[in-house]
Amino acid sequence: MASKQDIERIIEATDIVALVSKYVKLEKNGKNYKGLCPFHNEDTPSFIVSPDKKLAHCFGCGGGGNPIKFLMQIENIDYQEAVARLAKDAGIDIKSGYQDNKNKSLAKYYKIMNIATSFYSKNIQNTKDGLEAQEYLNKRGLDLDLINTFKIGLSPQAGSTIYEVLKDMNQLELDMFDVGLVDKNVSGYYDMFHDRIMFPIINENGDTVGFSARWYKGELKGQPKYINTRETVIFKKGEILYNLNLAKGDILKKKRFILHEGQMDVIASYRSDLKEAICTMGTALTMEQARLLKKYASHVIICYDADSAGIKASRKAIGIFKAMGMQIHLVLLPDKMDPDEYVMKYGSEAYKDYFENNMVDSTRYLFETSLMHKNLNDSEVCEATKAEIFELLNSIRSATEIEEYLKKTAEVIGCSFEAISDDFTRYARNHTALTKEEPSYPSGGDFAYPEYPPYQGEFVPPYDDINGGMVPELILVNKKQWNSICELRLFRYARSSKQEALYINRVLEDRMEAMSPDSQRLWLALVDNYYANYDEFDEGLFLKIIKEADLLTYYCDVIEALNGDKTPYSEDDRNECLIKLKEIKYYKLMKSLVEKTNLSENDDEKIKLVTQVWNLKRKIDELKKARRK
Ligand code: CTP
Ligand code: MN
Repeated sequence: MASKQDIERIIEATDIVALVSKYVKLEKNGKNYKGLCPFHNEDTPSFIVSPDKKLAHCFGCGGGGNPIKFLMQIENIDYQEAVARLAKDAGIDIKSGYQDNKNKSLAKYYKIMNIATSFYSKNIQNTKDGLEAQEYLNKRGLDLDLINTFKIGLSPQAGSTIYEVLKDMNQLELDMFDVGLVDKNVSGYYDMFHDRIMFPIINENGDTVGFSARWYKGELKGQPKYINTRETVIFKKGEILYNLNLAKGDILKKKRFILHEGQMDVIASYRSDLKEAICTMGTALTMEQARLLKKYASHVIICYDADSAGIKASRKAIGIFKAMGMQIHLVLLPDKMDPDEYVMKYGSEAYKDYFENNMVDSTRYLFETSLMHKNLNDSEVCEATKAEIFELLNSIRSATEIEEYLKKTAEVIGCSFEAISDDFTRYARNHTALTKEEPSYPSGGDFAYPEYPPYQGEFVPPYDDINGGMVPELILVNKKQWNSICELRLFRYARSSKQEALYINRVLEDRMEAMSPDSQRLWLALVDNYYANYDEFDEGLFLKIIKEADLLTYYCDVIEALNGDKTPYSEDDRNECLIKLKEIKYYKLMKSLVEKTNLSENDDEKIKLVTQVWNLKRKIDELKKARRK
């Protein structure tokens, strides 16, 4: 950013007549120049350029101004770019020109926020108001040590104190405004935060990027409990996590992190020797935050407020972490409490004890919370809840676990175990589960799959080559594109004996769609029409049975391709072909899910879809392994 002196030098050095002449035909008029205004339509010139005053101004429409303003208007560019261009023309070197400025470090903003942090902190330690604020914090269990650890401060009662402090330290007003510390009205700049306890929100590198400011003087009486820095260049609520700066060491050591809703909860955990706690400050967890956290550990323990809002948010967070393949546990506190309340009521040791001994996995949490706070006497609510539970149970493998959950469901909704089991069996029959267990993916260094993507534009499927990667033997025969050589080879086995054909047909039932439509028709002709009537394969008879001309042509192509296939017949080869078709089926499904994901504009749906994609990817990998043994 150019300084005030720089700006003056730039204006001074600019030949305004030459500048304006690039856009307007000027005529000398006494000491000044005159021309047709470039900013509005006119027949008689009212656009005056004064070389002495360094002004280009229209007396008709009011357009123009000093060289910077003129250039901004005529080129439709912003202030900084106009300054940078004029500086360049005048040969003046400003410290960071516009181009640099765009990628320039945000250091100046951090500096301002760090000054503010230490000012607020001094203010809580050395003033009468500060003592009162400290008393409030003490009552909530925070002694001076903790206040210092979290750099908690106090904003002064009124006026423009922080503005003055920053001004004295030569900070620019625009920068103070940009970080959300001051605002401006007719009488000048004033502070944004007054008379509140200031929790600095500090990024991974230890720089303050925003504040969460809590009211501490008794009842709220209509004002918000917390006021936060608005979104700024350096404060993006969806990307930052409170306390990550202090917690990251512990997170790495313990290989886990605890996710809370608010900063008082984080501090409560910290006091209870659970220093790996961080929070999102009341907003829903975003993918960016989850991705940031995953850099440090792949095990999360979600411990939100135990009220219905907290439960809802937990369920949503589970979806996000699942989509990223994280290990997930949850702690649900009793009596709708939040961690801070629990610590205040029972003490930090009791809290830690409760926390460590009451973790449940996400299935159990989803199960238990889906039965909570619901009027299950309403039959619609009851059916919806059952469907929700069935969907969950359909994704787990352990039969004993399923039985346990079903028993519990029956108990809560008040029906017999037999009835609910029947319902579930029917549900499971009609809903093929894509997941048969919670996904668990490798994490850490060698995690080669693309990161969870929808927020970074297109979702790239976990295959390098969507067209060929999955089906390496994709071949062209007679300019015809087969889906895969394996679908052709199966014809070869099917022609060898009826027994083979019927066996393959049975296996193919769940993967028929992996074949090309022509192959599917041909297969039907072979099994349903031919082998239904004959026990041995006879080429001549089969050819007679094929009625459609195009299918006949297709069959000829198949035979020709098979004649060129030198792979020896074997049971292994036949099985490989069958497995491969299943892979192709999953692959096609995956491809359509990927397309759906990219089209989806709903976060919940996206997460669901991507989880399914990952599950398919894993299944395909398993099949690949099976094939290669
Ligand atoms: N929050 C906010 N604005 C509000 C209320 C809450 O930004 N009006 C954010 C704060 O970061 C807060 C978090 O949401 O820490 C969780 O909200 P809540 O559970 O209501 O606050 P507590 O953590 O319980 O705050 P306290 O214990 O101080 O009452
Ligand atoms: Mn609280």
